Amino acid sequence: MLVLGIESSCDETGVALVEVSGAGVPVLRADALHSQIEMHQAYGGVVPELASRDHIRRVVPLAEAVLQRSGVALADIDVVAFTRGPGLAGALLVGAGVACALGAALDKPVLGVHHLEGHLLSPFLSADPPEFPFVALLVSGGHTQLMRVDGVGRYEMLGETIDDAAGEAFDKSAKLLGLGYPGGPALSWLAEQGDPTAFKLPRPLLHSGNLDFSFAGLKTAVLTQAKKLGDELDARKADLAASTQAAIVDVLLKKSLKALEQSGLKRIVIAGGVGANKLLRSEFNAACAARGVRVHYPELHLCTDNGAMIAMAAAMRLQANVQTASKVYAFDVKPR
Ligand code: KG4
Ligand code: ZN
Repeated sequence: MLVLGIESSCDETGVALVEVSGAGVPVLRADALHSQIEMHQAYGGVVPELASRDHIRRVVPLAEAVLQRSGVALADIDVVAFTRGPGLAGALLVGAGVACALGAALDKPVLGVHHLEGHLLSPFLSADPPEFPFVALLVSGGHTQLMRVDGVGRYEMLGETIDDAAGEAFDKSAKLLGLGYPGGPALSWLAEQGDPTAFKLPRPLLHSGNLDFSFAGLKTAVLTQAKKLGDELDARKADLAASTQAAIVDVLLKKSLKALEQSGLKRIVIAGGVGANKLLRSEFNAACAARGVRVHYPELHLCTDNGAMIAMAAAMRLQANVQTASKVYAFDVKPR
């Protein structure tokens, strides 16, 4: 079974083809991606209207590239999957519309999947995929969640952010420091030249006793610190960036270790854009090695949004019989 997946929830257009054969982990046949980062950079963030228009321009050429790279004919696709949400409504509608149009034209069923489930299952695209059950830390621009994952579609929420997401904390702090968009990579790059112990920044809810997160206070603390520094800010920017990054990673790590301890599981999957963070990976690697815990990440280029994770999530849901594809082409999207 060949599943074409389309991702268009935010600022990346992604198309990929995944093949399911038997009960084995589905295999990625080809993928193609276009990032809109450069286009939005001039505005300091994603402009929804521009995002939708660019998805429209890119999606068909990307789909053609995927078919060409995989040597698969359009008519041989069995299912067309798309990101149904969450994301920007106009952007989501592009992927949904194209998927349903393709399905209708080819007389093939379509399937909408949850963007976060795509991130969650993205480590299954790597050469050494995880085995169920595991703890998952989902850290993207819009979400920060700890989950217990027992199988495809069997997810139990253990804790989540009560305000900002971890990626948002990176992005907002980066903006306060006058760094570019997207803030996460910019801030972590600058942080490499700074001292992570230079400033004492808050670690909200670290000792709350539950597995929830809160990052809204951090950006206020960064702003306060930046104001206090005044003219000195430029010279101390790398130190402040490093301290901010250390605070975010510290909370993510401690809460994840608590989730592992409470669940008794010895495996963790880290997915979503913030999972690309270098400090986060080295801290998790060290802490997990010391505890005999296996840690899985998606391949670096599959941490941020892409079509492969959407095709994979759809393929795994179909394979596990937790969802069926349908020939009803009246589509809707779920921005929230
Ligand atoms: O998963 P993703 O691509 O999109 C969402 O579904 O939100 O995540 C994007 C987020 C942004 O907040 C971005 O700043 C952050 O991931 N990010 C990073 C890094 N690369 C991306 N944060 C910290 N360090 C990075 N290297
Ligand atoms: Zn995402």
